[in-house]
Order: sequence, then C-alpha cells, then structure tokens
Amino acid sequence: MKTTLYYFTGTGNSLKMAKDISQNLDNSECVSIPKVLKQNHKIEATEVIGIIFPKYYFGVPQIVLEFIDKVNLDKTKYIFVVVTFAKGLPGGALSQMKKALYLKRKSIDSGFYVRMVDNFILWTWDVTSEKKQKSLHKNAEIKAQKIANIVSERESKIDKSLMEYIGPVIFNYKGFLRKVNTEDKKFYVTEDCNSCGLCAKVCSVKNIEMVDEKPKWMSLTCQLCLACLHLCPKKSVQFGEKTKKRGRYINPFIKINELINED
Ligand SMILES: Cc1cc2nc3c(=O)[nH]c(=O)nc-3n(C[C@H](O)[C@H](O)[C@H](O)COP(=O)(O)O)c2cc1C
Repeated sequence: MKTTLYYFTGTGNSLKMAKDISQNLDNSECVSIPKVLKQNHKIEATEVIGIIFPKYYFGVPQIVLEFIDKVNLDKTKYIFVVVTFAKGLPGGALSQMKKALYLKRKSIDSGFYVRMVDNFILWTWDVTSEKKQKSLHKNAEIKAQKIANIVSERESKIDKSLMEYIGPVIFNYKGFLRKVNTEDKKFYVTEDCNSCGLCAKVCSVKNIEMVDEKPKWMSLTCQLCLACLHLCPKKSVQFGEKTKKRGRYINPFIKINELINED
C-alpha cells in the first residue's frame, strides 16, 4: 500500500519531519501541499496518507484546510496527522483537523504533536537558542521513527492536550485565519536587499513578485509561513520593527532547493 505524506512548511521543520517518517516507511512519497494545489487536476489521495504541517496560532494553516477541502479521500483507509510546534503546550490543530475531516466523512487514525525549533519571531521572543536546537532536532528524529512504527502497524494513537480547545480561543486563531492573506502588508526590505529574488522563489504560494528588482508582497495568498523572512541571505526582509534584532532559522537538514517550489 502506498503512503503519501502531504506537507506544508515554511522553514523546513515539517518537511524534515515528513522526510524522516517517509524514510522509515516502505513505498512512500512526500508531496508539497502548495504544489499539489496548484495542479489543475483532481487530487486523488492514496490508501494511506499523512498530513504534516506547522501549528499556527494554536491551529491549522489555512492552506492545509484548503487541501482537506479539495482532496479526494475515497480510496483512503488510514490517515495520520503530524503537527510541528514550538512553544508551550501542544493543542488546537488535531481537533481542527478532526473537524475538517469529519466533513469529508473521514477521521484521524493517528495524530501527533512534535516540538521543534521556533520560527515565530513576530511577537516578543526570538528563535530557539542554538544550544536547545540540537536536542530538539534529536528528539524530533526519535519521534519520527516512533510515528513511522505506529503508521506501519496501522495503530490508532492520538496525542491529547489540555489546550486542544482553549488554545485557539486564547490565541485568537479565528482572527488569524481571517487576516492571514493580507498580513503581508507588514513585510518590507531594508537597503541591504540585493535583489536576488530568493524570497519570491521560496514563497510556496507565489505571493511575492519582483517589481523593479524588489520583492512586492501581493496580499493574495500569504500564509505567514515566514520563509521569505528567514531565508533572505541578507537578512533584509523584515516584518515591522521587532524582526530587525531577531535571529533567522532554516532547518539545518533541509536544503534551500527543497523549499523552492518551481512549477
Ligand atoms: C505564523 C506562525 C504562527 C505560529 N504559531 C505557533 C503557535 O501557536 N504555537 C507554537 O508552538 N508554535 C507556533 N509557531 C511556530 C511553528 O509552528 C514551528 O516553529 C514549526 O515547527 C515551524 O515549521 P516549519 O519549519 O515547517 O514552517 C508559529 C509559526 C508561525 C510562522
């Protein structure tokens, strides 16, 4: 039976997780959610699928919900979900995925939260310290192996969290979803921008165009994944003022090429 691991990622954590699980499964393939959504034909899911993505504001990224809405799951018999997250308690995203799949008359067979490095630098904290990053990478690899074993055995196991329902309310997940496509108005480049265009290339939803050799955020499809900001080689992409003093992050096991979604 073929397993397809559908992933969405900004800075590579969720892709690394998808790749690590895939490596431990027979006959499996990793497929980018933004890429598959861009194709014109119907998305026919295989018998076993995984959906792997980062947690945003205690919830599911908009594009993942769009994917669930569009994918044909008629042949699918086993679904697992892996949510990468960073700070505090897990929660929010698995119950939302359960709800989204329920509308397709499907359920989650197994679901997991995996703590990884924090790439969310828009509020009051910075990227996870380098010292802590190492242990997070190691633990995530171990968890990927465990998940692969559970999936291979087609076991039912769903991580529980006290914050499953209250988390999205505290973090105003609904407000985030409503505004996410236009939040890109706060992105800009400093004079350090050398017009390399990498920000536009790593934007998996093609929301950035190069206009007069500078990036222009189009306020159409932005998911706030922060790939443009973290991957800028000149650290010139900013979001408001706070990000000027913050570190940048890309999962060290992922190459920039793997984040470029060429058509
Ligand atoms: C817009 C945004 C919102 C986020 N919200 C949360 C959150 O509510 N809780 C959390 O633990 N991490 C949050 N994060 C951190 C990411 O979920 C985490 O770093 C994830 O592993 C990044 O995955 P990626 O490298 O595949 O993009 C957020 C990140 C972004 C960009």
